Amino acid sequence: MSQAFDVVVIGAGPGGYVAAIRAAQLGFKVACIDEWTNAAGGAAPGGTCTNVGCIPSKALLQSSEHYEQASQHFNEHGIDFKGLSLDVAKMHARKDAVVKQNNDGILYLFKKNKIIFFHGRGSFVSGGDNSFEVAVTGKKSETITSRQVIVATGSSARALSGTPFDEVNVLSNDGALRVGAVPKKIGVIGAGVIGLEMGSVWRRLGAEVTILEGQSVFLGAVDHQIAKEAHKAFTKQGLHIEMGATVGDIKATSKQVSIAYTNAKGEAQKLVVDKLIVSIGRVPNTTGLNSESIGLKLDERGAIVVDDLCRTSVAGVWAVGDVVRGPMLAHKAEEEGVAVAERIAGQHGHVDFNLVPWVIYTSPEIAWVGQNEGELKASGRAFKVGTFPFLANGRARAMGDTTGMVKMLADAETDEILGVHVVGPMASELIAEACVAMAFRASSEDIARICHAHPSLSESTKEAALAVDKRTLNF
Ligand code: FAD
Ligand code: NAI
Repeated sequence: MSQAFDVVVIGAGPGGYVAAIRAAQLGFKVACIDEWTNAAGGAAPGGTCTNVGCIPSKALLQSSEHYEQASQHFNEHGIDFKGLSLDVAKMHARKDAVVKQNNDGILYLFKKNKIIFFHGRGSFVSGGDNSFEVAVTGKKSETITSRQVIVATGSSARALSGTPFDEVNVLSNDGALRVGAVPKKIGVIGAGVIGLEMGSVWRRLGAEVTILEGQSVFLGAVDHQIAKEAHKAFTKQGLHIEMGATVGDIKATSKQVSIAYTNAKGEAQKLVVDKLIVSIGRVPNTTGLNSESIGLKLDERGAIVVDDLCRTSVAGVWAVGDVVRGPMLAHKAEEEGVAVAERIAGQHGHVDFNLVPWVIYTSPEIAWVGQNEGELKASGRAFKVGTFPFLANGRARAMGDTTGMVKMLADAETDEILGVHVVGPMASELIAEACVAMAFRASSEDIARICHAHPSLSESTKEAALAVDKRTLNF
């Protein structure tokens, strides 16, 4: 007899494993299926985020930042030493250990919450009317049944047409996190989030990095003033970003990759590099799910079609995270996973998509929540702007990291905060205050009247709020 569950989750990335935990907390009998396999052949739950995304990239960003600080900035603090060296293998070993801690942490959480974990591929066999058969194909294959299914199968890197990833010279995010020695020259296609983060890692470690971006506007989704400041900082660091590039033929040999492209002026160019990272977006993982067997509707990108509540076209089947519409972010996937588990329990789980923060973990970091200046102008809403530069913040000066600013946008009449945009040190942490404030529909005056610790970077948020009312104290 096949094992029967109340809820089966396919995929144990941040969307899936969190949905499974919340469903178990709510009293359901839960199974979670995930096929990710580590180098030793074992289960590695956590999805893209844990294995080849958020976690390993942040580990390498941290290591490479330490190296750059030691090689270029320690002497500003009066610290000098000789014989600085780089052990890339050790750096990777540390990153792999961090990944493993996270994989093991999820396996522990499954046990703690009495979730049955299946290591293998999940696919629909048949179903309808709140009863589904799901096949698990792995070392041990079996079929299980469930009343409800949550699909959280995530996404994979999109390749350039005609240039498949070989993960040796033409790299997706996976290969970009495993380069064994620092290449002399790296090319990156796409100046988006991965291009900038991975480009920064390898530039800091000593590679000459050229990023070719198809669009003419840098980080088009980011507030224009913030993006401009970030572009200035990246260029100063030596990241070569070529906007408006049309990539043509790519030839990869065992030693080099040659990329023909046309620049913004329409001139034919050639870039020859040791490694090429292609980071031009991601595609939802739906192949192999056998979604046809239950009539699950997909859109033209292959994403599962869902409504605002993550309900698919089949009652009893839900989908969350990268495999559905919306930003491809781990915390968005998690919020959807929790909300779906609560909806299955008859509760009113809710995700406010306007309050999903974004962070780009470059140096300076870029973070934002809510609407930007361009979006507000386009919507015709009257608004006020307050900005405060880190140059005028005591903590930033003490840290020696004064690039960037906090920018706050508030409604012209009600003063409600509509968006907060940060480029600068610890933007990833500073943005949390803005999220809380906006969730409680705070005004800029609310932030301006709250006592912030001194000296702290967060005083810049308070000062940006004061700037909305043209009354900064320190600038
Ligand atoms: P995934 O994490 O992709 O997990 C899906 C899981 O399902 C995988 O384990 C997959 O193997 C499994 N699976 C797929 N199909 C099946 C099947 N049929 N049967 C069984 N298992 C299956 N986001 C952030 O918020 N912050 C960051 O800093 C960040 N950094 C990133 C850095 C990189 C380099 C990349 C590539 C992404 C990054 N992201 C970041 C994005 C983030 O990783 C994703 O948004 C997030 O992982 C999506 O979660 P998910 O649960 O939807 O899917
Ligand atoms: P992206 O969508 O962020 O950026 C892709 C870039 O490639 C865009 O600027 C696009 O204009 C450009 N592009 C597309 N096709 C091109 C072509 N043929 N030639 C030249 N340029 C081209 O996608 P990316 O960087 O691959 O990342 C995927 C997603 O992963 C992100 O959108 C984000 O959701 C997630 N992610 C999140 C991170 C974070 O939260 N810090 C870190 C890394 C990834």
